[in-house]
Amino acid sequence: MVNLNAKYREIVESIKNQIPFEPEICIVLGSGLGDFAEKVETVKSFSTSELPGYPKSTVEGHQGFLHFSKYAGKKLLIVQGRIHFYEGYKLSECLIPIHLAAKLNCKNIILTNAAGGINTNFKPGDLMLIFSFNGLSIKKELTEVLGLTTIDKRNDFLDFPSTELNEKIKLAALKEGIALREGVYWFTKGPSYETKAEIKMMQKFGGDAVGMSTFHEAVYASYLGLKVGAISCITNFAAGLSSTKLSHSEVMETAKHVKFDFERLVKKIIELI
Ligand code: HPA
Repeated sequence: MVNLNAKYREIVESIKNQIPFEPEICIVLGSGLGDFAEKVETVKSFSTSELPGYPKSTVEGHQGFLHFSKYAGKKLLIVQGRIHFYEGYKLSECLIPIHLAAKLNCKNIILTNAAGGINTNFKPGDLMLIFSFNGLSIKKELTEVLGLTTIDKRNDFLDFPSTELNEKIKLAALKEGIALREGVYWFTKGPSYETKAEIKMMQKFGGDAVGMSTFHEAVYASYLGLKVGAISCITNFAAGLSSTKLSHSEVMETAKHVKFDFERLVKKIIELI
């Protein structure tokens, strides 16, 4: 077990003294979705490189900023600097934005990501509400980092993601006329994209989208008592489901096209929370 309170005490104390307010809603922006931060009023921004011990994001599309922002009268913490396990960081390091949000008393978190579509009804550009996760590949490490046991009540995944937030996300989509998909997000550690056989297996076992983030963040946030909502932007057909070669630039390109719907959806969710 890693004592995350001890590990991140310095960074928490340092940021606590400089923030303009305690955020109510944390929004983690996925690959290619970072522009959302510019669509709301920024009150104060921190480059993550200024924060002691904050890992450096090495992935294109993750700028490395924490923004304290406002929209519709709500106080926001916008994370534009997600840390991925596949970048070679420890799981505990990937959890740092979530740890910060919780220690700043944030009560809600909306996690967003770019994902490959496994469900053959999905196409690039779709937005998907994550109604459950498959995180088997990392569950053991994760529960060890958190020091959880299988009988730990805080780890029962009963309201995970939060039913209340899911209802708000669905209502937001309805109000904005956005055809929101729903599905299971299958977490992989990466760092490479999947093989065709892996995708076939995921399909058989109920996966609708695949990606390399979010699951561990969602579990940790829920463990710390935050209500968790999660949305995938389907940026590509998963491996073997189209003849196109998978690439990060395709992911970024599709995310760019979804930007407008994504912005409307997330803004409406903020209004409804
Ligand atoms: N696989 C894994 N991660 C991803 C994908 C994918 O197809 N697309 C975007 N992130």
